[in-house]
Amino acid sequence: MGSDSFINDVIWGLSDPQKHLPSKYFYDEKGSRIFQEIMQMDEYYLPACEREILYKQSQQIANEINHEEFDIIELGAGDGSKTMVFLEEVIKTGKKTTYVPMDISSDILEVNKRQIKQKLPDLTVETLPGDYFYTIKTINSYSRPRLVMFMGSNIGNFPGEKAIEFIRFVNDHLNPGDYFLMGVDLKKNPHVIRAAYNDKKGITKRFNLNLLERINRELKGDFNLKAFEHYGVYNPLEGAALSFLVSMQEQDVHIANHTFHFDKYETIHTEVSQKYSLKDLDQLAIKTGFSWDRHFTDSRGYYSLSLFRK
Ligand code: AVI
Repeated sequence: MGSDSFINDVIWGLSDPQKHLPSKYFYDEKGSRIFQEIMQMDEYYLPACEREILYKQSQQIANEINHEEFDIIELGAGDGSKTMVFLEEVIKTGKKTTYVPMDISSDILEVNKRQIKQKLPDLTVETLPGDYFYTIKTINSYSRPRLVMFMGSNIGNFPGEKAIEFIRFVNDHLNPGDYFLMGVDLKKNPHVIRAAYNDKKGITKRFNLNLLERINRELKGDFNLKAFEHYGVYNPLEGAALSFLVSMQEQDVHIANHTFHFDKYETIHTEVSQKYSLKDLDQLAIKTGFSWDRHFTDSRGYYSLSLFRK
């Protein structure tokens, strides 16, 4: 991610009447470390749910795929530790597959490949570093049917229509008979969702504030971190968990020759984490050009691995 687009996005976002910053900038080195802490939090139930489904239902998911040979392409694969379970189970069904993890970080893909090769030495792993908006275009060169995976509820961070646009974009790169598997956080007791983004130890607060710290570090901003607070809220009408940073005093912030004025209690919107019902997901499949879908949920009904077929 070049800092050119970072500065432009920051200036553009903070110039809006409702200030906002793109959540993709959470994940610098420090932010990625804090996100690992979030994944371990008691309140943040999502990873445990996804793991449960993968452990208990990977074989069923694999059996739903009507091909004996197919490639597994994962968008934003990270270190692949969760996908390992799925890959193992696919191999057990006797189906033949190649694993193609895509990620912006080539370092993490090296870790991914090493770990997968240690556990599954016979599996072919072809890493594709880069922004998956570009690398996904290369999947046309794979001739076998494919399963594209997008895990970790990452779809939730696309606001509103952007989620539809993104899934349509994935669909455009699939052939009829190909599959898309997506990890989705489901609508549930609003208290449970709210707590996931308002942990007692303040880890999510650190995660949110790191965005301002990153602007100070990389763009020579002068945010006073002590003058901002984290505010996480869940709106059941929209099914959206929203994160904000609240300016606790009237203040000016300077970034790259720009001055941004904050009134007391003015907010910066930093993230949306959209939740879906299974009905919403059926609608989403239709709207994005898929003709069939099936949902694999955890024992509490908190989370779904939703399989769409083109
Ligand atoms: C990465 N993404 C799915 C997380 C989420 O739940 O929206 C990011 C996150 N933000 C705060 N906690 C976790």
